[in-house]
Amino acid sequence: MFSTITYVRRRQRLADLMPDSLLLFIGNENSPFNYPSNEYRFRQDSTFLYLFGLDTPGLAAIIDTASGLSTLFADDVTMDDIVWTGPMPSADDRAKLAGIDRALPSKSLDDVVARALASGRKVHFVPPYRGETIVRLADLLGLKSAQVVQNASESLIRALVSLRIVKEQCEIDEMERHMAFGYNMHTAAMRLAHEGVSETDIMARVDYEALRGGGVVSFPIICTVNGETLHNHGYIHDLTNGKLLLVDAGCESPNHYATDHTRTTPVGGRFSNRQREIYEIVLAANDAVAKNAAPGVFYRDMHQLACRTIIEGLKAVGIMTGDTDEALQAGAAGLFMPHGIGHNLGLDCHDMENYGENLVGYDEETGPRSSQLGLGSLRMAKRLVAGNVVTDEPGIYFIPELIDRWKAAGHCADFINFRRLESYKDFGGIRIEDDLLITPDGCRIMGEKRIPATPAEVEAEALKGRTEDRDILTQ
Ligand code: GLY
Ligand code: MN
Ligand code: MN
Repeated sequence: MFSTITYVRRRQRLADLMPDSLLLFIGNENSPFNYPSNEYRFRQDSTFLYLFGLDTPGLAAIIDTASGLSTLFADDVTMDDIVWTGPMPSADDRAKLAGIDRALPSKSLDDVVARALASGRKVHFVPPYRGETIVRLADLLGLKSAQVVQNASESLIRALVSLRIVKEQCEIDEMERHMAFGYNMHTAAMRLAHEGVSETDIMARVDYEALRGGGVVSFPIICTVNGETLHNHGYIHDLTNGKLLLVDAGCESPNHYATDHTRTTPVGGRFSNRQREIYEIVLAANDAVAKNAAPGVFYRDMHQLACRTIIEGLKAVGIMTGDTDEALQAGAAGLFMPHGIGHNLGLDCHDMENYGENLVGYDEETGPRSSQLGLGSLRMAKRLVAGNVVTDEPGIYFIPELIDRWKAAGHCADFINFRRLESYKDFGGIRIEDDLLITPDGCRIMGEKRIPATPAEVEAEALKGRTEDRDILTQ
């Protein structure tokens, strides 16, 4: 946890934005995966962590901004709990730790909410994403399960987004410190990127480096020689020379702040000329964003800058053609980068995505989301401000089925050399992802050292692993 005052201050700022309101927060429960006592590792709800910092199951809280009273709903542990899971501070002590005014037994939440509803008060809550929370809210509020999400409070969401999207110094320090483990995850993968090693071996090693950081991975590891499939979690291939290994992986800090990086390494540690050409384009797109992202700049414009860089680069190698501005307007880059340039990062890898992407990444200034492939998947379009943390993750992918579809439809045919593209259908995909902190005068890549990114740096890291790491795996 951060200091008690951190949570008190956050709740005070929220109360200032939501006067005379009753705000209800349901923490996460343990979640079973195949029978009740066989549970996934517990992950607290991020809104609950942000406002209260208490990282155990079985909690709920109410902030009444009319009376100024905050209440934790929690039970003291029983002797059985102590035997199975160890001792735990009392409910009162946990409330004190978070600077919450009082603790009441869990079962009294039903009465408190029922009284509020009977007196005609609106109960504000954020959209639940787990079945048990939906059921709990439905019971408390007298709604059908299917009605719960649509009854979430947009004003509460907007207030929380306005707070969480600008990171405090304690959050930046925590994220900054934890980037070192992201570095270790990716350099370990680079050193293992050699023929005969399996995707499973590498995924396990990346997972191990995340665990060493005191947390778990921040999303299921993507570790694949088929990088053109964006969320590939198969881990079924052995590496062979000539392929590219794409690893997209991040880890959670002890306070649950996420890192999120992608690197692409040539198996065997040497890029072919064709791979290097495409890699340099992706790196140029990544660098262009890191050079230009700054307060006042729309992140959507950084998406378009990356696309422009990709179009120019692909024109130079004969895959695209025509006028760059026209190609950009037509959305032709979406064939190669069918995702957005980045998203907010914080307590969630896709920070606050449970609130609804458009309420996080779009506003009156940005207008609505595009429907183009690629730009339409952009999660963060807003004007940047100092304290934002966003990912910078351009990529170029050669997706045979998508190429065939566009070719058959003649889509963007003025800008794409489909004949030349045929020979790239076995290429795979490249993505390079860094985490950017927006600073008062620009931005910087988070972490003490940037994870090796230039072709020379990636090759040097991969070649370091020709001996020791692979020996460890094959012993
Ligand atoms: N790892 C998911 C992403 O980069 O957005
Ligand atoms: Mn990622
Ligand atoms: Mn990302």
